[in-house]
Amino acid sequence: MPRLPVLPSILVALVLASCSGEETSSPPPLPAIDREAEAKRLLSGPDWYRHAVFYELYVRSFQDSDGDGIGDFRGATSRLDYLKSLGVDALWLMPIMPTPFKDSGYDIADYRNINPDYGTLADFDEFLTEAKKRGIRVVIDLVLNHTSDQHPWFQESRSSKDNPKADWYVWSDTPNPPDNPCGLQQPIFGTSPWAFDTVRNQYYFHRFYAEQPDLNYRNPEVVEATLDIARFWLDRGVDGFRCDVIALLHESKEGCDLLPETKDYIRSLRKVVDGYPGTVLVAESTNFEDASAYFGNGSDMFHMAFNFAYGYLWGFDFMSGKSGRLYEVFGKVLTNYPPGSQDALVIGSHDVVRSSVAVKKHPWSTRRAAELQMFLRGTPFIYYGEELGLLPGQATVVDLRDAARTPMPWEPGPGQGFTTGTPWLPFGPDADRLSVASQQADPSSNLTFYRGLLALRRGHAIWGTGTLKLLPLDNEHIFAFSRENDEEAYLVAVNLTDEPQQAITSATSLPSTGVRVWGNGSVQAQSNEVSIDLPGEGSVVWKIR
Ligand code: NOJ
Repeated sequence: MPRLPVLPSILVALVLASCSGEETSSPPPLPAIDREAEAKRLLSGPDWYRHAVFYELYVRSFQDSDGDGIGDFRGATSRLDYLKSLGVDALWLMPIMPTPFKDSGYDIADYRNINPDYGTLADFDEFLTEAKKRGIRVVIDLVLNHTSDQHPWFQESRSSKDNPKADWYVWSDTPNPPDNPCGLQQPIFGTSPWAFDTVRNQYYFHRFYAEQPDLNYRNPEVVEATLDIARFWLDRGVDGFRCDVIALLHESKEGCDLLPETKDYIRSLRKVVDGYPGTVLVAESTNFEDASAYFGNGSDMFHMAFNFAYGYLWGFDFMSGKSGRLYEVFGKVLTNYPPGSQDALVIGSHDVVRSSVAVKKHPWSTRRAAELQMFLRGTPFIYYGEELGLLPGQATVVDLRDAARTPMPWEPGPGQGFTTGTPWLPFGPDADRLSVASQQADPSSNLTFYRGLLALRRGHAIWGTGTLKLLPLDNEHIFAFSRENDEEAYLVAVNLTDEPQQAITSATSLPSTGVRVWGNGSVQAQSNEVSIDLPGEGSVVWKIR
């Protein structure tokens, strides 16, 4: 489907300025805003994370620098210019610490070092320095619910029932203690959350793989030790943390998810982070319906939380072709989230199938989903390779989720510019065609689509912080909303079907000077109503003022 070229926003500003200049009585046109300077301003203020485009990066699969087939920090450093040119402002690095790799690094054996496969602390410091030089912030994964069973803490804890760390993990004489009914397991992590340890002759609790024993947060020493890990990385200069399954720290008879004592811990972590101005916390929510509880009073818990109700389930909305759930999900954001909170929006991650195949019947819908991700009120997190439309790989090293963790193809040919050796995990299908180099110069490629999207968002405060209003429509196949701040206003509409659709709303008004800045639909004022026309599979971003 041909899509109209994107009108760079600076051009839009010029067009609008010149229109108003035709009226002799109007004031002289305002000078066009330098969007790059505006981006710098927005991204250096306290609200930087609301304006930033984040990119989830798997160091292991991004760029190998030494030919061992495993991505590393030197490699990632050499690709920072690519990320900069894409329009990425911040990175979330999946776990980077030493690990036996039973859960791709989510099983940490040493919290104060770098996985030797990825390099050294010095390589990491160099990466941080180079990222910051380019204005790119770096947030790292903080996995505090559990450690690896190889971590010295666990090794000591299991050694006896009375050692100094005996109480650092959750031990029990039975595999079903009444004070801990928690343990709903995902199939890949096994059938019981209790594993028997033959050294200590007791069961230990693990929400994930048996090699990932849960820490005991009822022990104040564990609380202090883990807060200290956060300080260690903040002192090194990271810009914050993506907090892995943070809701699961405590379990009790009362419940298993985000208990009051877990919220207390999160508040303590927030206090630590607040001691390092400009650093942020983003929660991996385990509530797929409503992440509002992660924000506390709006300034004492998380800065951001992933909205999985949209992120992992958007495929269903497009599959059904109906907008009801989208209205419901973002309606909840508007009514339930406390002031100050910020949605974190994904369309894929290392845990789920690649977004390019999430909706097999409707491949076009990934682009529509990405538009919602960029223009709804929230901070977009792009999963590496999403900008290329990578397809799922077929090989497995750790578990089935490896399908979405294949190495980045940079160019056609053996090694795909990722490695000179054998990649640790085979590339996904069509790696030549999907490589960065192949897509670079193609105006219809996914990469070009993403570059345009990010350029449209860049330097416009409205997308990060402008108000959001969901527009009621008389057609359930279209999802539409408006965004507004003092400077600008937009109407965004997405067709959830492959048939042309039209809708009317009276919930917003339009001046005659509106202009399309993205997509292929159109919007018109009709007395007191606004009519939206979208081709099948289409969308529109309409600048109202
Ligand atoms: C959530 C992470 O995203 C997932 O990859 C991991 O397996 C679990 N937490 C356990 O750490």
